[in-house]
Amino acid sequence: MKDLEALRVTLLADIAQAGDLAALDQVRVAALGKKGVVTAQMKGLRDLDGEARKAAGVALNALKDELAAALDARKSDLDGAAVEARLAREHVDITLPGRLPPEGRVHPVSQVLDEIIAIFGDMGFSIAEGPDIEDDFHNFEALNIPPEHPARQEHDTFYFAPDENGERRLLRTHTSPVQVRSMQAQGAPLRIISPGRTYRCDSDQTHTPMFHQVEGLVIDKQTHMGHLKGCLADFVSAFFEVGDVPMRFRPSYFPFTSPSAEVDIGCTRKDGTLSIGGDGSNWLEILGCGMVHEKVLVNCGIDPTVYQGFAFGIGIDRLAMLKYGIADLRGFFDADLRWLRHYGFAALDLPTLPAGLAR
Ligand code: PHE
Repeated sequence: MKDLEALRVTLLADIAQAGDLAALDQVRVAALGKKGVVTAQMKGLRDLDGEARKAAGVALNALKDELAAALDARKSDLDGAAVEARLAREHVDITLPGRLPPEGRVHPVSQVLDEIIAIFGDMGFSIAEGPDIEDDFHNFEALNIPPEHPARQEHDTFYFAPDENGERRLLRTHTSPVQVRSMQAQGAPLRIISPGRTYRCDSDQTHTPMFHQVEGLVIDKQTHMGHLKGCLADFVSAFFEVGDVPMRFRPSYFPFTSPSAEVDIGCTRKDGTLSIGGDGSNWLEILGCGMVHEKVLVNCGIDPTVYQGFAFGIGIDRLAMLKYGIADLRGFFDADLRWLRHYGFAALDLPTLPAGLAR
Protein backbone atom coordinates (compact mmCIF):
# COMPACT_ATOMS: atom_id res chain seq x y z
CA MET A 1 0.00 0.00 0.00
CA LYS A 2 1.47 3.30 -1.13
CA ASP A 3 1.68 6.28 1.14
CA LEU A 4 -1.94 7.41 0.91
CA GLU A 5 -1.29 10.75 2.52
CA ALA A 6 1.30 11.73 -0.12
CA LEU A 7 -1.09 10.65 -2.89
CA ARG A 8 -3.89 12.66 -1.34
CA VAL A 9 -1.81 15.82 -1.17
CA THR A 10 -0.66 15.50 -4.81
CA LEU A 11 -4.13 14.83 -6.17
CA LEU A 12 -5.76 17.64 -4.22
CA ALA A 13 -3.06 20.02 -5.53
CA ASP A 14 -3.66 18.82 -9.10
CA ILE A 15 -7.38 19.48 -8.68
CA ALA A 16 -6.77 22.95 -7.30
CA GLN A 17 -4.45 23.79 -10.19
CA ALA A 18 -6.67 22.56 -13.06
CA GLY A 19 -7.16 25.70 -15.12
CA ASP A 20 -10.27 24.66 -17.06
CA LEU A 21 -12.87 21.93 -17.23
CA ALA A 22 -10.83 19.83 -19.68
CA ALA A 23 -7.77 19.86 -17.43
CA LEU A 24 -9.94 19.00 -14.41
CA ASP A 25 -11.38 16.01 -16.22
CA GLN A 26 -7.87 14.77 -16.97
CA VAL A 27 -7.07 14.87 -13.26
CA ARG A 28 -10.26 12.94 -12.51
CA VAL A 29 -9.44 10.23 -15.01
CA ALA A 30 -5.85 10.00 -13.80
CA ALA A 31 -7.09 9.43 -10.24
CA LEU A 32 -10.42 7.66 -10.40
CA GLY A 33 -10.62 6.36 -13.98
CA LYS A 34 -10.23 2.67 -14.87
CA LYS A 35 -6.48 3.02 -14.96
CA GLY A 36 -6.33 5.77 -12.35
CA VAL A 37 -3.94 5.66 -9.40
CA VAL A 38 -6.68 5.41 -6.76
CA THR A 39 -8.40 2.64 -8.71
CA ALA A 40 -5.10 0.77 -8.82
CA GLN A 41 -4.90 1.07 -5.02
CA MET A 42 -8.41 -0.39 -4.71
CA LYS A 43 -7.36 -3.33 -6.83
CA GLY A 44 -4.33 -3.77 -4.55
CA LEU A 45 -6.71 -4.47 -1.60
CA ARG A 46 -7.07 -8.00 -2.90
CA ASP A 47 -3.56 -8.78 -1.85
CA LEU A 48 -4.10 -7.73 1.75
CA ASP A 49 -5.81 -9.81 4.33
CA GLY A 50 -8.13 -9.43 7.24
CA GLU A 51 -7.81 -6.35 9.38
CA ALA A 52 -5.25 -4.68 7.07
CA ARG A 53 -7.61 -4.92 4.08
CA LYS A 54 -10.47 -3.49 6.12
CA ALA A 55 -8.46 -0.53 7.38
CA ALA A 56 -6.97 0.22 3.96
CA GLY A 57 -10.44 -0.07 2.38
CA VAL A 58 -11.88 2.48 4.79
CA ALA A 59 -8.97 4.87 4.17
CA LEU A 60 -9.24 4.51 0.37
CA ASN A 61 -13.00 5.09 0.39
CA ALA A 62 -12.51 8.19 2.47
CA LEU A 63 -9.88 9.40 -0.03
CA LYS A 64 -12.23 8.71 -2.97
CA ASP A 65 -15.03 10.68 -1.30
CA GLU A 66 -12.71 13.55 -0.52
CA LEU A 67 -11.41 13.63 -4.09
CA ALA A 68 -14.94 13.48 -5.55
CA ALA A 69 -15.98 16.40 -3.37
CA ALA A 70 -12.89 18.42 -4.34
CA LEU A 71 -13.53 17.69 -8.04
CA ASP A 72 -17.13 18.82 -7.69
CA ALA A 73 -16.17 22.02 -5.93
CA ARG A 74 -13.48 22.85 -8.47
CA LYS A 75 -15.89 22.07 -11.31
CA SER A 76 -18.49 24.48 -10.05
CA ASP A 77 -15.79 27.16 -9.63
CA LEU A 78 -14.65 26.65 -13.20
CA ASP A 79 -18.24 26.59 -14.50
CA GLY A 80 -18.83 29.92 -12.84
CA ALA A 81 -15.64 31.35 -14.34
CA ALA A 82 -16.66 30.13 -17.83
CA VAL A 83 -20.01 31.84 -17.50
CA GLU A 84 -18.33 35.03 -16.29
CA ALA A 85 -15.94 34.94 -19.24
CA ARG A 86 -18.76 34.42 -21.70
CA LEU A 87 -20.78 37.23 -20.17
CA ALA A 88 -17.79 39.55 -20.49
CA ARG A 89 -17.24 38.49 -24.10
CA GLU A 90 -20.83 38.93 -25.16
CA HIS A 91 -21.32 42.12 -23.28
CA VAL A 92 -23.78 44.49 -24.93
CA ASP A 93 -23.87 48.11 -23.91
CA ILE A 94 -27.57 48.81 -24.05
CA THR A 95 -26.97 52.44 -23.21
CA LEU A 96 -25.43 53.07 -26.68
CA PRO A 97 -27.63 55.23 -28.94
CA GLY A 98 -29.63 53.45 -31.66
CA ARG A 99 -28.65 53.44 -35.31
CA LEU A 100 -28.88 56.91 -36.86
CA PRO A 101 -30.31 57.40 -40.33
CA PRO A 102 -27.53 57.92 -42.94
CA GLU A 103 -26.15 61.43 -42.83
CA GLY A 104 -24.70 63.40 -45.70
CA ARG A 105 -26.02 64.04 -49.18
CA VAL A 106 -24.87 63.03 -52.63
CA HIS A 107 -23.50 66.01 -54.55
CA PRO A 108 -25.52 66.93 -57.68
CA VAL A 109 -22.44 66.30 -59.84
CA SER A 110 -22.12 62.75 -58.51
CA GLN A 111 -25.85 62.25 -58.92
CA VAL A 112 -25.87 63.47 -62.52
CA LEU A 113 -22.80 61.39 -63.26
CA ASP A 114 -24.58 58.27 -62.01
CA GLU A 115 -27.61 59.18 -64.12
CA ILE A 116 -25.47 59.65 -67.24
CA ILE A 117 -23.73 56.33 -66.65
CA ALA A 118 -27.09 54.58 -66.21
CA ILE A 119 -28.37 55.99 -69.52
CA PHE A 120 -25.29 55.38 -71.67
CA GLY A 121 -24.68 52.04 -69.96
CA ASP A 122 -28.13 51.02 -71.12
CA MET A 123 -27.17 52.03 -74.68
CA GLY A 124 -24.15 49.72 -74.57
CA PHE A 125 -21.39 52.20 -73.79
CA SER A 126 -18.60 51.20 -71.45
CA ILE A 127 -16.67 53.57 -69.20
CA ALA A 128 -13.10 54.67 -69.90
CA GLU A 129 -10.87 56.79 -67.72
CA GLY A 130 -7.76 58.88 -68.23
CA PRO A 131 -5.42 61.03 -66.14
CA ASP A 132 -6.21 64.61 -65.09
CA ILE A 133 -2.60 65.62 -65.76
CA GLU A 134 -2.01 65.21 -69.46
CA ASP A 135 0.72 65.80 -71.98
CA ASP A 136 0.55 67.99 -75.02
CA PHE A 137 0.21 65.04 -77.38
CA HIS A 138 -2.97 63.59 -75.87
CA ASN A 139 -4.67 66.89 -75.01
CA PHE A 140 -3.82 68.69 -78.27
CA GLU A 141 -1.53 67.18 -80.94
CA ALA A 142 -3.29 63.85 -81.45
CA LEU A 143 -6.58 65.73 -81.56
CA ASN A 144 -5.39 67.69 -84.55
CA ILE A 145 -4.50 70.80 -82.58
CA PRO A 146 -0.84 71.42 -83.51
CA PRO A 147 1.22 74.08 -81.70
CA GLU A 148 0.24 77.59 -82.80
CA HIS A 149 -3.28 76.39 -83.64
CA PRO A 150 -5.65 79.20 -82.58
CA ALA A 151 -7.91 76.67 -80.84
CA ARG A 152 -5.27 76.40 -78.14
CA GLN A 153 -6.02 79.93 -77.02
CA GLU A 154 -9.64 79.10 -76.40
CA HIS A 155 -8.70 76.41 -73.95
CA ASP A 156 -7.21 78.72 -71.28
CA THR A 157 -4.88 75.95 -70.27
CA PHE A 158 -3.24 75.52 -66.87
CA TYR A 159 0.35 74.50 -67.60
CA PHE A 160 2.94 73.02 -65.26
CA ALA A 161 6.52 74.27 -65.24
CA PRO A 162 8.57 72.67 -68.04
CA ASP A 163 10.40 69.43 -67.15
CA GLU A 164 14.07 68.73 -67.93
CA ASN A 165 13.20 68.12 -71.61
CA GLY A 166 11.39 71.43 -71.83
CA GLU A 167 7.99 69.69 -72.01
CA ARG A 168 5.13 71.31 -70.18
CA ARG A 169 2.50 68.97 -68.80
CA LEU A 170 -0.96 70.42 -68.30
CA LEU A 171 -4.30 69.92 -66.60
CA ARG A 172 -6.53 68.43 -69.28
CA THR A 173 -8.81 71.07 -70.75
CA HIS A 174 -11.37 68.53 -71.91
CA THR A 175 -12.05 64.79 -71.70
CA SER A 176 -11.16 64.30 -75.38
CA PRO A 177 -7.65 62.98 -74.59
CA VAL A 178 -9.42 59.87 -73.26
CA GLN A 179 -10.70 59.29 -76.82
CA VAL A 180 -7.11 59.17 -77.95
CA ARG A 181 -6.03 56.84 -75.18
CA SER A 182 -8.99 54.51 -75.75
CA MET A 183 -8.49 54.31 -79.51
CA GLN A 184 -4.80 53.61 -79.03
CA ALA A 185 -5.42 50.96 -76.42
CA GLN A 186 -8.49 49.23 -77.81
CA GLY A 187 -8.68 50.07 -81.52
CA ALA A 188 -11.99 49.85 -83.37
CA PRO A 189 -14.89 49.27 -83.05
CA LEU A 190 -15.36 51.26 -79.89
CA ARG A 191 -18.22 52.62 -77.81
CA ILE A 192 -17.16 54.45 -74.67
CA ILE A 193 -18.06 57.29 -72.40
CA SER A 194 -15.45 58.91 -70.27
CA PRO A 195 -16.58 61.10 -67.39
CA GLY A 196 -14.11 63.17 -65.41
CA ARG A 197 -12.70 66.47 -64.24
CA THR A 198 -11.47 69.12 -66.64
CA TYR A 199 -9.73 72.43 -66.05
CA ARG A 200 -9.70 75.87 -67.65
CA CYS A 201 -8.62 79.22 -66.35
CA ASP A 202 -12.10 80.75 -66.36
CA SER A 203 -14.61 81.83 -63.71
CA ASP A 204 -18.09 83.39 -63.80
CA GLN A 205 -21.72 82.38 -63.17
CA THR A 206 -21.53 79.49 -65.62
CA HIS A 207 -17.76 78.77 -65.65
CA THR A 208 -15.46 77.45 -62.93
CA PRO A 209 -11.73 76.66 -63.23
CA MET A 210 -12.49 72.99 -62.57
CA PHE A 211 -15.58 71.46 -64.09
CA HIS A 212 -16.81 68.08 -65.28
CA GLN A 213 -17.31 66.67 -68.72
CA VAL A 214 -18.33 63.35 -70.10
CA GLU A 215 -16.85 62.37 -73.41
CA GLY A 216 -18.63 59.98 -75.73
CA LEU A 217 -17.02 58.13 -78.61
CA VAL A 218 -18.42 55.64 -81.07
CA ILE A 219 -16.23 54.16 -83.79
CA ASP A 220 -17.66 51.65 -86.22
CA LYS A 221 -17.89 50.80 -89.91
CA GLN A 222 -21.06 52.67 -90.68
CA THR A 223 -21.49 55.57 -88.36
CA HIS A 224 -22.92 58.86 -89.46
CA MET A 225 -24.24 62.17 -88.22
CA GLY A 226 -27.77 60.73 -87.97
CA HIS A 227 -26.55 58.23 -85.36
CA LEU A 228 -24.96 61.05 -83.43
CA LYS A 229 -28.13 63.10 -83.46
CA GLY A 230 -30.32 60.14 -82.50
CA CYS A 231 -27.99 59.12 -79.71
CA LEU A 232 -27.93 62.62 -78.21
CA ALA A 233 -31.68 63.12 -78.58
CA ASP A 234 -32.29 59.80 -76.79
CA PHE A 235 -29.87 60.79 -74.09
CA VAL A 236 -31.41 64.22 -73.56
CA SER A 237 -34.95 62.92 -73.25
CA ALA A 238 -33.91 60.06 -70.94
CA PHE A 239 -31.89 62.45 -68.82
CA PHE A 240 -34.54 65.15 -68.47
CA GLU A 241 -37.29 62.53 -68.35
CA VAL A 242 -39.42 64.48 -70.80
CA GLY A 243 -40.45 63.52 -74.33
CA ASP A 244 -39.37 66.51 -76.33
CA VAL A 245 -36.73 68.78 -74.94
CA PRO A 246 -36.04 71.63 -77.37
CA MET A 247 -32.60 70.99 -78.88
CA ARG A 248 -30.63 73.08 -81.30
CA PHE A 249 -27.68 71.80 -83.33
CA ARG A 250 -25.53 74.78 -84.29
CA PRO A 251 -22.77 74.27 -86.86
CA SER A 252 -19.49 74.81 -85.09
CA TYR A 253 -15.83 74.07 -85.24
CA PHE A 254 -13.56 71.69 -83.34
CA PRO A 255 -10.22 70.67 -84.84
CA PHE A 256 -10.88 67.03 -83.95
CA THR A 257 -14.33 66.66 -85.53
CA SER A 258 -15.70 67.44 -88.95
CA PRO A 259 -18.45 68.34 -89.39
CA SER A 260 -18.88 69.75 -85.90
CA ALA A 261 -21.82 71.10 -83.96
CA GLU A 262 -22.69 72.61 -80.63
CA VAL A 263 -25.93 71.59 -78.99
CA ASP A 264 -28.10 73.95 -77.01
CA ILE A 265 -31.08 73.09 -74.88
CA GLY A 266 -34.10 75.37 -74.63
CA CYS A 267 -34.72 76.67 -71.15
CA THR A 268 -36.37 79.44 -69.20
CA ARG A 269 -34.65 81.58 -66.63
CA LYS A 270 -37.11 82.92 -64.09
CA ASP A 271 -36.72 84.31 -60.58
CA GLY A 272 -33.13 83.16 -60.44
CA THR A 273 -33.85 79.55 -61.44
CA LEU A 274 -33.48 77.73 -64.71
CA SER A 275 -36.00 75.27 -66.05
CA ILE A 276 -36.10 73.07 -69.13
CA GLY A 277 -38.23 73.98 -72.11
CA GLY A 278 -40.81 76.67 -71.47
CA ASP A 279 -41.00 79.57 -73.87
CA GLY A 280 -37.62 78.66 -75.37
CA SER A 281 -36.48 82.23 -74.90
CA ASN A 282 -33.15 81.00 -73.56
CA TRP A 283 -30.70 78.47 -74.88
CA LEU A 284 -27.94 76.94 -72.83
CA GLU A 285 -25.06 75.21 -74.53
CA ILE A 286 -24.54 71.75 -73.07
CA LEU A 287 -22.26 69.94 -75.46
CA GLY A 288 -19.98 69.92 -78.46
CA CYS A 289 -19.98 67.09 -80.94
CA GLY A 290 -19.17 65.95 -84.45
CA MET A 291 -17.80 63.21 -86.67
CA VAL A 292 -14.29 62.22 -85.61
CA HIS A 293 -11.73 63.90 -87.89
CA GLU A 294 -9.80 61.58 -90.21
CA LYS A 295 -6.51 62.89 -88.91
CA VAL A 296 -7.46 61.94 -85.36
CA LEU A 297 -8.28 58.39 -86.46
CA VAL A 298 -4.93 58.16 -88.24
CA ASN A 299 -3.08 59.62 -85.23
CA CYS A 300 -4.67 56.92 -83.08
CA GLY A 301 -3.89 54.06 -85.43
CA ILE A 302 -7.35 53.53 -86.92
CA ASP A 303 -7.89 53.17 -90.66
CA PRO A 304 -10.26 55.96 -91.76
CA THR A 305 -11.10 54.15 -95.02
CA VAL A 306 -12.74 51.40 -92.93
CA TYR A 307 -13.96 53.17 -89.82
CA GLN A 308 -15.73 56.40 -89.00
CA GLY A 309 -17.13 57.61 -85.75
CA PHE A 310 -18.75 60.34 -83.79
CA ALA A 311 -17.80 62.02 -80.55
CA PHE A 312 -19.36 64.39 -78.09
CA GLY A 313 -18.32 66.22 -74.96
CA ILE A 314 -21.01 67.12 -72.44
CA GLY A 315 -20.68 69.56 -69.56
CA ILE A 316 -21.91 67.61 -66.54
CA ASP A 317 -22.21 70.61 -64.24
CA ARG A 318 -24.30 72.47 -66.80
CA LEU A 319 -26.64 69.49 -67.02
CA ALA A 320 -26.97 69.43 -63.25
CA MET A 321 -27.79 73.16 -63.20
CA LEU A 322 -30.43 72.73 -65.84
CA LYS A 323 -32.06 69.63 -64.49
CA TYR A 324 -32.12 70.68 -60.86
CA GLY A 325 -32.65 74.43 -61.30
CA ILE A 326 -29.37 75.59 -59.81
CA ALA A 327 -28.64 79.10 -61.02
CA ASP A 328 -24.98 79.59 -60.12
CA LEU A 329 -22.27 77.09 -60.98
CA ARG A 330 -19.86 78.45 -58.39
CA GLY A 331 -21.97 77.08 -55.50
CA PHE A 332 -21.10 73.57 -56.72
CA PHE A 333 -17.55 73.98 -55.51
CA ASP A 334 -17.96 76.15 -52.41
CA ALA A 335 -18.13 73.10 -50.12
CA ASP A 336 -20.96 74.77 -48.21
CA LEU A 337 -22.91 72.14 -46.29
CA ARG A 338 -26.10 74.21 -46.35
CA TRP A 339 -25.94 74.24 -50.15
CA LEU A 340 -25.39 70.48 -50.21
CA ARG A 341 -28.23 69.84 -47.78
CA HIS A 342 -30.51 71.82 -50.06
CA TYR A 343 -29.42 70.54 -53.46
CA GLY A 344 -27.97 67.14 -52.51
CA PHE A 345 -29.57 63.71 -52.93
CA ALA A 346 -30.33 60.93 -50.45
CA ALA A 347 -27.34 58.66 -50.17
CA LEU A 348 -29.07 55.36 -50.86
CA ASP A 349 -31.22 56.36 -53.85
CA LEU A 350 -29.13 55.10 -56.72
CA PRO A 351 -30.34 56.27 -60.12
CA THR A 352 -31.45 53.46 -62.43
CA LEU A 353 -33.52 53.61 -65.59
CA PRO A 354 -36.33 51.30 -64.42
CA ALA A 355 -36.69 52.95 -61.01
CA GLY A 356 -36.35 56.53 -62.24
CA LEU A 357 -33.21 58.62 -62.31
CA ALA A 358 -33.81 61.01 -59.45
CA ARG A 359 -36.36 60.90 -56.68
N1 PHE B 1 -13.67 68.59 -76.26
C1 PHE B 1 -14.62 69.59 -76.67
C2 PHE B 1 -14.62 70.74 -75.66
O1 PHE B 1 -14.31 70.52 -74.52
C3 PHE B 1 -16.01 69.01 -76.74
C4 PHE B 1 -16.11 68.01 -77.85
C5 PHE B 1 -15.90 66.68 -77.58
C6 PHE B 1 -16.46 68.42 -79.12
C7 PHE B 1 -16.01 65.76 -78.59
C8 PHE B 1 -16.56 67.50 -80.13
C9 PHE B 1 -16.36 66.19 -79.86
O2 PHE B 1 -14.91 71.83 -75.95
